Amino acid sequence: MPQIAMPHLWHPRVYQEKAWGALENGIKRVVLVWHRRTGKDLTALNWIATEAFRRPGMYWHLLPTFSQGRRVIWEGMDHGGRPFLDAFPKDAIKRKLEQQMQLELHGGSKFQVVGSDEIDRLVGANPVGLVMSEYPLQNPAAWELLSPIIASNDGFVIFPYTPRGHNHGWDLLEFARGHKDRWFSEILTVDDTNIVPPEMLAEEKEMLPKEIFEQEYYCSFNASLVGAYYKEQLAWMETQDPPRISDNVSWLPNKPVICGWDLGFADMAVCWFAQVIGSEIRIIDFEQASGRTVDAWAKVLREKPYTYDVMKLPYDSSQHTMLSQYSVEEQFTSLGFNCQRPFVPIPLHEQHATVRLLLRQCWIHKTMCKLGISALREYTKKPVPGQRGPNNEQLYQDVPLHNWASHPASGLATLLCAFQPEDYGEFKQPDASYVV
Ligand SMILES: Nc1ncnc2c1ncn2[C@@H]1O[C@H](COP(=O)(O)OP(=O)(O)OP(=O)(O)O)[C@@H](O)[C@H]1O
Ligand SMILES: [Mg+2]
Repeated sequence: MPQIAMPHLWHPRVYQEKAWGALENGIKRVVLVWHRRTGKDLTALNWIATEAFRRPGMYWHLLPTFSQGRRVIWEGMDHGGRPFLDAFPKDAIKRKLEQQMQLELHGGSKFQVVGSDEIDRLVGANPVGLVMSEYPLQNPAAWELLSPIIASNDGFVIFPYTPRGHNHGWDLLEFARGHKDRWFSEILTVDDTNIVPPEMLAEEKEMLPKEIFEQEYYCSFNASLVGAYYKEQLAWMETQDPPRISDNVSWLPNKPVICGWDLGFADMAVCWFAQVIGSEIRIIDFEQASGRTVDAWAKVLREKPYTYDVMKLPYDSSQHTMLSQYSVEEQFTSLGFNCQRPFVPIPLHEQHATVRLLLRQCWIHKTMCKLGISALREYTKKPVPGQRGPNNEQLYQDVPLHNWASHPASGLATLLCAFQPEDYGEFKQPDASYVV
């Protein structure tokens, strides 16, 4: 058997050595907040390749979407035209499955490039090593799902990314900094790596909006998520005294719970749980799942301690699908739930306006609704490709980007658009001067 040295024909650059050394020293949780084009993916991929020969098992390199995974990793090449996949020596590859983006290696390991948009494909697998690339752009539900598996397998995970505002990427870095015994974390800016020539940096500074330049080259977390629908409202909620998004939003057992839904089977289905107390809408819980039938959802609802008032369903809940001869509305009704839905579809701009208005009446439980809140932050408009405004800013269409964040955002719109103030006694419409 020929001997192969790992990493294969690759060496960490000087600024990559500290992270590489941490991995070599047995650290299994690594957060690399490095600026653009520093070799985040290449470093992580070479670590996976090295580990795959030390320990047989399943290894995943995740990107926010499947197609990004194909472009960036599976078909990726370095400056010299060398494929990223050369991290795995040719002689060590038993089989290459193009469709699945999977390599079967001699020695028993498998390597696969995965999109965290295909979250149901993640369920039930048993990876021992993960790269969660561009984590701030990923659906954070993917890491929630995989984290216990990696823990029970004594596996490793590397999070290579450039910041995207104070979202779950920021929370993760904060967590890593607070657990230095088990987590390695590092921020590398252009001043640390010196890989961007000064004249090119000056040109980029001139071309990019300031916030984005600082984010991409100086790893600033302060760039707000431009084009985010509910940015101002969420910021307002967080800066109130007491904050409107916190763990002090209690469930009142003597009051009923209202559910607001976004439906889906192959796609994610989402349910927000709320109580109306006086003029407040208290959002106390959040659930999302794909591939879950109405029966299975009913079981989840009944296992919670709540007394249900009404299921607020979206317009499409009366439709019949190939999955069942009964609509979702008919199925929930036959299971004993009281359902309501709008008689006509609510236009998106009206949904956005209502959510913006009524978020001012809402209190949201931070921990119970963590994934839902992340999605509300990331619910953004579609950028206009290739066009910039007079100050070089990105321009947006008034239509949402369809991604993992759209489902929770639609669910909340179903909940809030369904509010009939007169149904809830004390509840009053908020002062219209709050509209922004
Ligand atoms: N250790 C290294 N050896 C050789 N080339 C490297 C090394 N590290 C980085 N590079 C070069 O940097 C390029 C960018 O690598 P990679 O795509 O991994 O960076 P990234 O930080 O993930 O980029 P992005 O910010 O665009 O996601 C590679 O194509 C490669 O040419
Ligand atoms: Mg990358």
